[in-house]
Amino acid sequence: MPSYVVTGASRGLGLEFVNQLSQSPDNIVFGLVRNKKTADKLGALGRRNVYILEADVTDVKTLKAAAQQVSEITGGTLDVLINNAAFIDDERNALTLDGYPEGREYLLEQDLLKNFNINVIGVIHTTNAFLPLLRSGSVNDIKKVVTISSGVGDVLFTLSTGYSVGAPYSISKAAVNLAVAKYAAEYKDQGIVFLAISPGLVSTKEPLDQPTEEDLRKFEAMVASFRKAYPDFAGPITPEESVRAILVVVDKATIENTGAFISHKGNQEWL
Ligand SMILES: NC(=O)c1ccc[n+]([C@@H]2O[C@H](COP(=O)([O-])OP(=O)(O)OC[C@H]3O[C@@H](n4cnc5c(N)ncnc54)[C@H](OP(=O)(O)O)[C@@H]3O)[C@@H](O)[C@H]2O)c1
Repeated sequence: MPSYVVTGASRGLGLEFVNQLSQSPDNIVFGLVRNKKTADKLGALGRRNVYILEADVTDVKTLKAAAQQVSEITGGTLDVLINNAAFIDDERNALTLDGYPEGREYLLEQDLLKNFNINVIGVIHTTNAFLPLLRSGSVNDIKKVVTISSGVGDVLFTLSTGYSVGAPYSISKAAVNLAVAKYAAEYKDQGIVFLAISPGLVSTKEPLDQPTEEDLRKFEAMVASFRKAYPDFAGPITPEESVRAILVVVDKATIENTGAFISHKGNQEWL
């Protein structure tokens, strides 16, 4: 029975990963959430092959406890880990690195550290907690660790779109890509495939009843900059579309691809 762990499973792409993976009764899927009480959508899936476990990716103790729970259910194995959880800042994502208000440089430092802590160190802690189970995965050819990254962490994307804002998040995604490559280099001989995959631009937020003018302005500015390099970009895709495409890429990946940073299209086309 192939087993999957998905972090950040309470909502957005994580919830959709659990939804699609658990549609096959052959799979066993563990959705990791920070708080079971606020993971009502995950519970509402009502699937018998889904287990909801609590863990914060910045808290090693909770990750190890979750890995222990997984181990007890699978008999000490895991086939696929999906590092999906991340911090995505909505508040200051329209600022450039030198655009923080004078005298509030501490906010820039806070944002850089918070993004790094959750999006990079959190992924590393999670990977380390589950590696012992992955090393003894039950199905030899599908031992995979997928880290959901972002095209905004790509240097060429940044330069071709002129997307200069959202730097702390973008920098954290670029950094996590190298962490993925480090694991890939270490585990190639043991046949564990590591991938960093960008999901495209995906509408994962609840639609705002009344978006403010500022919200609309920020969104339009982002789309306009993306269109500099992707003139046909039609706007965000749905979580359903993104996850379906990512799972095809994950399925096809072999040890030859290990360490790659690719998109939901399986290449470097980010949108
Ligand atoms: N949506 C996009 O357009 C897009 C584009 C590029 C990349 N991505 C990447 O795709 C992934 C999913 O994005 P999304 O849009 O689905 O995000 P989302 O809707 O904001 O969900 C983020 C998830 O991460 C969890 N999380 C945050 N901090 C955590 C922590 N410290 N420990 C454990 N879980 C934590 C959240 O849990 P709570 O519910 O407890 O807060 C939530 O489940 C992320 O890695 C993101 O960077 C998304």
